[in-house]
Amino acid sequence: MDLSKYSNSFLSFLKAQTTFKEPSHLYDPVDYILSLGGKRIRPLLTLMSVDAFGKDYQLGLHAALAVEVFHNFTLLHDDIMDDAPLRRGKATVHEKWDVNTAILSGDAMMILANQYLEAYDGETYKRLMHLFQKTALEVCEGQQYDMDFETRGDVSIPEYIEMIRLKTSVLVAAALKMGAIIANATEADAEGMYQYGLSLGLAFQLQDDYLDAFGDPETFGKQVGGDIIENKKTFLFLRAYQNLEGAEQAQLLELFTHQQVNLDFKIEKAKELFVKSMAVKEIQQEIKNYTQHAFEVLDHVAISSKTKEKLIGFGNYLMSRKV
Ligand code: IPE
Ligand code: IPE
Ligand code: MG
Ligand code: MG
Ligand code: MG
Repeated sequence: MDLSKYSNSFLSFLKAQTTFKEPSHLYDPVDYILSLGGKRIRPLLTLMSVDAFGKDYQLGLHAALAVEVFHNFTLLHDDIMDDAPLRRGKATVHEKWDVNTAILSGDAMMILANQYLEAYDGETYKRLMHLFQKTALEVCEGQQYDMDFETRGDVSIPEYIEMIRLKTSVLVAAALKMGAIIANATEADAEGMYQYGLSLGLAFQLQDDYLDAFGDPETFGKQVGGDIIENKKTFLFLRAYQNLEGAEQAQLLELFTHQQVNLDFKIEKAKELFVKSMAVKEIQQEIKNYTQHAFEVLDHVAISSKTKEKLIGFGNYLMSRKV
């Protein structure tokens, strides 16, 4: 699937729009994180969505940039919260500089993201801002649940799904809906794109959780096992805990409750239990289910079958990604 027209266009726009001034301690980290790459899936979705409704996809560039800069802002703060040393194969901002720098540069990125949307006028601007602000607040809510769950032993699967809907899916969904708004799609179609994004976003975060434990440290770009170290109540943990019994269940709980001296042991043991309990098989099935559901939602959106194929191709790529 050739998405290079979107990514080339987005990358040159990003480069042109993000030349920063003083103080360098505020802007260097912004430049650093944005230059480290990443998959750029959210801006691509915005541009694809504008295109899907028959408008020039370049009309979506400012919104695509807003979404990507916002996403990168969340990563700066998320990496502080998750005590993560690595991002995209390089030191995280709070490791390379310090926590205060990552907080303030993150704040600046959040503001920049809002400013990029000023490129739109009137009703379009209003609708974009409304969606964007609502989404940003939901991401905060999701991030708070994610942290609350670290110290809770009774998190249910529906609670976990709601948490990842908030921290991850709503931004993927908003990226698509913003494209639809810019293209002046009907409310029903814009909402259809949003629903596609929600389901795709759930599959995406489940895959992220899977890779966090089972990704290849050489290529993953983040610390493998980071979620286990932080006692994250991911689908893998929750299903493993539900499926295991007796001593194994107790051991899993112990690993995720009391401070562990040997983190390598904790990671290896947890992964072993994730496999043995069938949680790994189940997460893989769940990723397929949510991706499939995303495709079904597309059937009700008034876009060409060629565009649908493109969006389906993108969903399949996300499901099989290793990074
Ligand atoms: C990471 O997002 C944060 C999650 C919501 C899982 P991505 O996996 O899109 O990160 P980059 O931008 O490609 O690095
Ligand atoms: C991230 O979830 C969600 C947001 C950044 C809002 P994760 O904490 O799983 O993301 P990674 O794995 O650090 O990229
Ligand atoms: Mg994280
Ligand atoms: Mg996190
Ligand atoms: Mg993760």
